[in-house]
Amino acid sequence: MMQKGALNIEKIREDFPILKRKVSGGKSLVYLDNAATTQKPLAVINAIHDYYMNYNSNIHRAVHQLAEEATLEFEKTREKVAEFINARSTEEIVFTRNATEAINLVAYSWGRTNVKKEDRIVITELEHHSNIVPWQILTSEKGAKLDYVGTDDNGYLKLQEYMNYLESSKKKKVKLVSVSHMSNVLGTIVPVNDMIKMSHEKGIPVLIDAAQSVPHMPVDVQKMDCDFMAFSAHKMLGPTGVGILYVKKEILEKMPPFIGGGDMIKEVHKYETRYNDLPYKFEGGTPNIADVIGFSAAIDYLNKLGMDKVREHEVELTEYALDIITKVKGVTLYGPRNTKDRGGVISFNIGDIHPHDLATIMNDHGVAIRSGHHCAQVLMERLDVAATSRASFYIYNTKEEIDIFVSALGEARRLFKI
Ligand code: ALA
Repeated sequence: MMQKGALNIEKIREDFPILKRKVSGGKSLVYLDNAATTQKPLAVINAIHDYYMNYNSNIHRAVHQLAEEATLEFEKTREKVAEFINARSTEEIVFTRNATEAINLVAYSWGRTNVKKEDRIVITELEHHSNIVPWQILTSEKGAKLDYVGTDDNGYLKLQEYMNYLESSKKKKVKLVSVSHMSNVLGTIVPVNDMIKMSHEKGIPVLIDAAQSVPHMPVDVQKMDCDFMAFSAHKMLGPTGVGILYVKKEILEKMPPFIGGGDMIKEVHKYETRYNDLPYKFEGGTPNIADVIGFSAAIDYLNKLGMDKVREHEVELTEYALDIITKVKGVTLYGPRNTKDRGGVISFNIGDIHPHDLATIMNDHGVAIRSGHHCAQVLMERLDVAATSRASFYIYNTKEEIDIFVSALGEARRLFKI
């Protein structure tokens, strides 16, 4: 019996063929690694198949019918993305390979133009490596500095530290704030609206790493008023290889190109080039046409469910899971306890079982979780652990699956005598 709740899970699960497969010698698959990547519904798989079967062609170039059909479908996705996050125009939506490339694009193009010696970039201890390393590369090249907002023991950002950085921004020349909307390890939902408001009062632009938020809750870039936002299609039912960079038009207009080559130009002469209009100026080379088209079906799917319902479902699951896991002997849980402030991501350790050993035992029960540092080694240092285990939920997960996961944890405790 499936639970009654915000979403009709039974019906949703019918759309995901992979959820029917057996793993580990006949066990039902319990897929709880959604923060790494989500599964894909048939509609997405079929959209990619349809493109290759019926209208495979390059885009923005030829005038033949296949090229026109492919261009139309590709650009339709851009419209849907703009609508999904409430961007003012499609000119503000740049397709990249992933969220990492989107952040690197900003560091390379905007960063190299605007960040000078002694300037500062403010990030946080919660960041994924993709929102740390590009800034390390930039600051070391420019002789600038990185400042980290710390986290408290419950996984919240120390906002006083943030305010202190902003207060000293004139002296310390803070040029950019770049912060994750939701931690991929702790699930912490960061109060980005307030942080952006505070930063803008000092005239400092803000980049939001929304890789873990756009897939899981309603996000409105105009309400949030962020200057840059990065996220990935594959964490929201779409294919891998498609990232999205949103940039306010007035900022994007002033940014130099990132990758030079075909499609990002209007005219090329021996010694000079006129670049293409926005956003194509930032999309050099043949893009990932099939997967961008597949992403369109993913957005349709989520729109049909409603992002407020997606969030409601995840809150329900997370509350249920936190309630039970807290009672398992030997468990250390990381991150906020209040589901108002956290998404459907639960990181934990049990006694001294190594997370990789735990994930192997889980796998024997058909349960897929992630173990390791989750591309967040700065946060691991802050938590004083080398690694954690992590279960993360999405629209097709059920309370019954959480029961299977928790009973597998019990088995691990028995094996390790905890
Ligand atoms: N960023 C992805 C994760 O958190 C890969 O697992």
